[in-house]
Amino acid sequence: MAVTDKPITIVGCGPGGLAYLTDAARHAVDQAELLIGASRLLELFPDAKAERIAVGADIAAALNEMDSRIGKTPMVVLVTGDPGLHSLARPVVRHFGRALCRIIPAVSSVQAAFAAAGLDWMDARILSAHGALPDIDIQDFAPADKIAVLAGSPTALRWIAELAARIAPRRILVCEELTLPEERVTEVMADDLAGLEASPRTVVLLVRPGVLEG
Ligand SMILES: C[S@@+](CC[C@H](N)C(=O)[O-])C[C@H]1O[C@@H](n2cnc3c(N)ncnc32)[C@H](O)[C@@H]1O
Repeated sequence: MAVTDKPITIVGCGPGGLAYLTDAARHAVDQAELLIGASRLLELFPDAKAERIAVGADIAAALNEMDSRIGKTPMVVLVTGDPGLHSLARPVVRHFGRALCRIIPAVSSVQAAFAAAGLDWMDARILSAHGALPDIDIQDFAPADKIAVLAGSPTALRWIAELAARIAPRRILVCEELTLPEERVTEVMADDLAGLEASPRTVVLLVRPGVLEG
């Protein structure tokens, strides 16, 4: 089966800014007969002619809907950022298998956060506190110079505040609305993090002091 014959294309849409939507993503959406994704992602493509299915928190319902269409309609699944990082791509690929899925990569919010902070991310550890909180071995993360956490909820911020306190000292950068006109990067203290009202689109960077100097 040629790559382009795969019935499901999973398209990374980047962190939200239209300038970060790739030509490959736009092309795949243009070819789609069925678009599946969060409402906010579907809205990125107002001119697409495809049928649209908005996906909420109920992933099983989305997979069921795809099950009923597989082999009949070429489908495009839209995800935020890059499909390889905490996205709908994982349940879709697990359910249908890699052979049926083509993946189009994109800029991740984590890449955008490190870029906004002026840092590379070669040695970074990445965690997701989006939805469920991560269950980590603190000893495993304590030595890391740079940790990025997908946040975006008060619960996530409280969890990150506790993590920061346990692996102190760390400088804390709250990166909101990345690539969007409202993008902001704010340095906060661990004590402030727990009560912060951050955007649902937030990545928190925990950086060892010294890494940000220079
Ligand atoms: C379901 S995860 C998707 C991650 C995505 N696959 C990626 O590569 O960025 C959603 C999380 O991504 C982060 N996120 C997505 N867009 C963002 C943005 N524009 N600015 C900051 N964080 C963002 C937030 O942490 C949010 O809770």
